[in-house]
Parts: sequence; C-alpha cells; structure tokens
Amino acid sequence: MTTTSRRSSGALRGLCLAAALLLLLLASCGLRGAHPGELGQGLRAAAANLKTANLGSEAQERVVLVTGATGRTGLQTYQELKKRAGVRVRALVRNATKAAALLDCGPCGSEQGIFVGDVTKPKSLPKAAFQGVDTLIVLTSAKPIKSKSGKWTFPKGGWPKEVDWKGQVVQFEAAVASGVDHVVLVSTAGTTAPEPPYIPMPGHDFFFKLNAEAVLMQSQLRFTIVKPCGLTNAKVPFASQVGHCDELPHPVTMPLISRSKVAEICVEAAIDPARSAHARFDVCNDPLRPGQADDFDKLFAKAKKLDCFRSMWAPVVEQS
Ligand SMILES: NC(=O)c1ccc[n+]([C@@H]2O[C@H](COP(=O)([O-])OP(=O)(O)OC[C@H]3O[C@@H](n4cnc5c(N)ncnc54)[C@H](OP(=O)(O)O)[C@@H]3O)[C@@H](O)[C@H]2O)c1
Repeated sequence: MTTTSRRSSGALRGLCLAAALLLLLLASCGLRGAHPGELGQGLRAAAANLKTANLGSEAQERVVLVTGATGRTGLQTYQELKKRAGVRVRALVRNATKAAALLDCGPCGSEQGIFVGDVTKPKSLPKAAFQGVDTLIVLTSAKPIKSKSGKWTFPKGGWPKEVDWKGQVVQFEAAVASGVDHVVLVSTAGTTAPEPPYIPMPGHDFFFKLNAEAVLMQSQLRFTIVKPCGLTNAKVPFASQVGHCDELPHPVTMPLISRSKVAEICVEAAIDPARSAHARFDVCNDPLRPGQADDFDKLFAKAKKLDCFRSMWAPVVEQS
C-alpha cells in the first residue's frame, strides 16, 4: 500500500469513527431539545459505548496490576487474582529473574502482563504497565536488612522515605496519568503513634506510609487503604476484625494477621470497588471468632464507617 493510499484509508477510518460517534451521540441525546450539558453527557456515554463495542469480551474483565508482586503478600495476591474469573492480572516487579521463578508466567514479558521497574526510579516504570488498568494494588515496601553489627537498617536507596513515600506517590501519579479507576494500598496499623515503641527499626516507615496514604486520599482516585497488624506467613485461624484509629474493638491477644488473609482482602477490594472504595481501616485477626470465614460485604461496610476513640477517651461527645 502506498503512503497516499494508507493516508486516505486512515482518513476514511477516521471519518467512519466520527460518523459512528455522531450517531451514538444523537441516539444518546435524542434529536430534539438536547440541553448543552446533556450533549456533554451524551458524548461521554457515546464514547463509552464505542469503547465497549471495540473491546468486545475484554470489556468484561477487570485489569488488576499488583506492584511488589514478588513480595510475600504481593505474590499471594497475584496468585489469588489469577484464580478469579473476570480478572486479568498484571505484575510490576523489580527483579525479572525472581518473577520468572515465582509467578509461573512462562516467558514473563509484557505479553504475559509482567513489567519490570523500580519505584525509586520513576523513569524505569513502564507506562504500558499502568495503561488500561482498572485497579492498582500497591504492595511495594522498603525491606529492612540486618547490618553487620546486628542492627536493623535498609539498603542504600531502599529506605522508607524512598520506597514507602516517594516510591508510592510515583505509582499514584502513574495511576492518575493512565486513568486508573481504583487503588488498593497496603499500609500498616500503628500510624497514630508518633514513635511506635515496639518497632526497633530506623527510617520512620510508619510516618512515610501515613504520608503516602494522605497523598492517595487527595488524588481523586478511588481508594481502599488496608492497615494490617503484624503479618505472619502462618495461616492464623480466625475471622478478621476491622476498626479505625488503632482501636480494634476486641481485645487482641495475638496481634497478627496472615499474609494470605491480607491478600484475600486486597483481591476482594479490587474486584468490587463499589463495595470497598473510600475505606481506610485497621485489620487484624479476631480472637473472639476462631475458625470463621469472613463476610466481605460486612467487612467493607464496617471498614467504611467512622468509629474512632471508642476506648481512648470515650465518649467523644459528652451527653448533657
Ligand atoms: N511485616 C509486618 O508485620 C507488617 C505489618 C503491617 C503492614 N506491613 C506492610 O504490609 C505490606 C506487605 O508486607 P510484606 O512483608 O508482604 O512485603 P515484602 O515481602 O517485604 O515485599 C515488599 C515488596 O516490595 C518490593 N520492592 C521493594 N523495593 C522496591 C523498589 N524500589 N521497586 C519495586 N519494588 C520494590 C520487593 O521486591 P523484591 O521481591 O524484588 O524484594 C517486594 O516484592 C508492606 O507494605 C508492609 O510494610 C507489614
């Protein structure tokens, strides 16, 4: 095909697209008496119809990107999403070899939804990883290491300020730029204490995670912020309890939650943002409910409620 005929067939396709858009627009608005505001709405609806028509069966799938997918919770989240119908899962990892070993992803390239990038190096983040994503699940985290003297520290370039603060904000920015609909962020419980006494860790990770939460909440993205208590690889045999402001309602005899449970909560949040969005909540096992499964409708409904200061200095509002 010559350049001129390629151009004219491109122009023809453009004309057809414009005509289809116009027809859909007219159908959406009705031909008579459309208000200019309704015209705008009609145009958006027509564009959405056209997108759906073009996508065909893919339109039914939710595309979910898990970052930190080779981490301990990230891997379980990725694996759980792969089992779910109607979900196309992608992973952002910083180490392709580790991804190939863990993710059962064949050649493990972008075709398989595997993208390589370092969240502390924004230019390394592939735009294609975020494009077309419905929900982004952020499971990257600064990883402490033991120094020769036996003290906890972080690798150069991998401190909480770099990974948990800037490295999360760049992901939110990429999400906004790519039109992502919803972000699930795994942060941590304990952020109400200025200096958590039980954490022998330098780097102020709680402070930086809390700041990242704040940026996400002001980003206009729909958000679900999961703030777990201590994580364990063991399957802790309890249902979950949710609360706010570091005040879980039941006495916590074993302040732990399984990574597999956190992964399940992330997946349940991602597949139904209408149920999970605008929730920011603490979550831990509930020692009063051994052996019970979670009801995620109830869990997210409770997670969305504002119920702080139950034990700190209740009642908040004095009765006259
Ligand atoms: N440990 C606890 O008791 C506890 C309690 C409450 C909340 N949390 C939080 O829960 C979340 C999950 O914890 P986890 O223990 O499952 O996480 P994890 O195993 O430490 O995984 C962290 C992930 O982040 C990735 N990562 C680190 N730096 C990165 C960078 N610069 N660019 C791209 N990826 C990077 C790591 O990649 P590699 O796989 O290549 O190393 C890893 O996949 C974390 O946010 C954690 O802080 C933990």
